Amino acid sequence: MMTSTSDIEKAAGLLRAGGLVALPTETVYGLGANAEDPAAVSRIFQVKGRPPSHPLIVHIGGAQHLDDWVQDVPATARLLAEHFWPGPLTLVLRRGRRVPLEATGGLETVAVRVPDHPVALALLSAFGGGVTAPSANRFGSVSPTTADHVRAELGDAVDFVLDGGPCGVGVESTIVDVTGETPAILRPGGVTREDLEAVLGHPVEVPSTSHVRVPGQHPSHYAPSARVVLVEPEKVAVEARLAQEQGHRVGVLLPPSLADTPVKAHAVVDVPASLADYARELYGFLRELDRQGCDLIVASLPAEEGLGLAIANRLRRAAGPRLTA
Ligand code: TXA
Ligand code: MG
Repeated sequence: MMTSTSDIEKAAGLLRAGGLVALPTETVYGLGANAEDPAAVSRIFQVKGRPPSHPLIVHIGGAQHLDDWVQDVPATARLLAEHFWPGPLTLVLRRGRRVPLEATGGLETVAVRVPDHPVALALLSAFGGGVTAPSANRFGSVSPTTADHVRAELGDAVDFVLDGGPCGVGVESTIVDVTGETPAILRPGGVTREDLEAVLGHPVEVPSTSHVRVPGQHPSHYAPSARVVLVEPEKVAVEARLAQEQGHRVGVLLPPSLADTPVKAHAVVDVPASLADYARELYGFLRELDRQGCDLIVASLPAEEGLGLAIANRLRRAAGPRLTA
């Protein structure tokens, strides 16, 4: 572990003093602040360039603390927390009085999760309270999965970066709204729909990416600088060659079904056959293609099963209309 006990103490002290600390989680790096400090929470929005109406996730040290942060916890929420925490599952519940409206974008609900990362858990334990943390990137861009990504993107805007190595899951948590009659997935992520259904014993509603469902889920989220174009897997190599011939600097996410196919492009990444490996590396691939100066990325969607649902969701958003030119 690249983080010492004194780093944890320093980070906890900074949180108590109203500072911002970037922390590793199993999904992506977060930009953390004391959840009960409205001024510190507001600073998160400034640093990210994120509209204040976009709600944040409150990270807590264990399911035993859930009732400190929310009200009216239904049995389904307890069941899911018991099965998946610590882990990449975020539950949306009724906001407890302890949570300032700054953290929820003015909503009467709050998103809560227990991250499965030793450094995050050590920080939460040393700090003792809740830590609001969005992904530690500028608004709309690709989430960071290493401490270097955070330093490169946020630099001095954050008071301290805890380095916990590369994130193991690589895509954000699955967000499940448990305030309604039946649980609904607001964002697919590290816990799969199939995992949820196995525990709940019934089908769970699948998200539609065609429109904005909740604040903070614009189609252009998770986008690299390069424009992303999605095509059928068997057309990736042809599409890449055509775009390259038209003068683009093309980056390719070559699907496993086309492995070893020669591709005429500026940069080619072989997509791993394992969805867990792909999820872990997806954001790193997008960053790398940007770094290599690609202006266009040609990719295809994996089958939307298991982690493929979250990967396809992020690729669709990366390919979606941009908020800025
Ligand atoms: O894996 C993750 O969830 C990472 C790590 C750092 O924990 N965090 C993360 O946070 O992805 P962020 O802020 O990038 O995305 C959180 C999303 C918001 O965009 C919003 O869509 C949803 O959570 N959200 C938060 N509070 C909500 C609420 N009360 N109702 C509905 N959606 C909510
Ligand atoms: Mg984010």
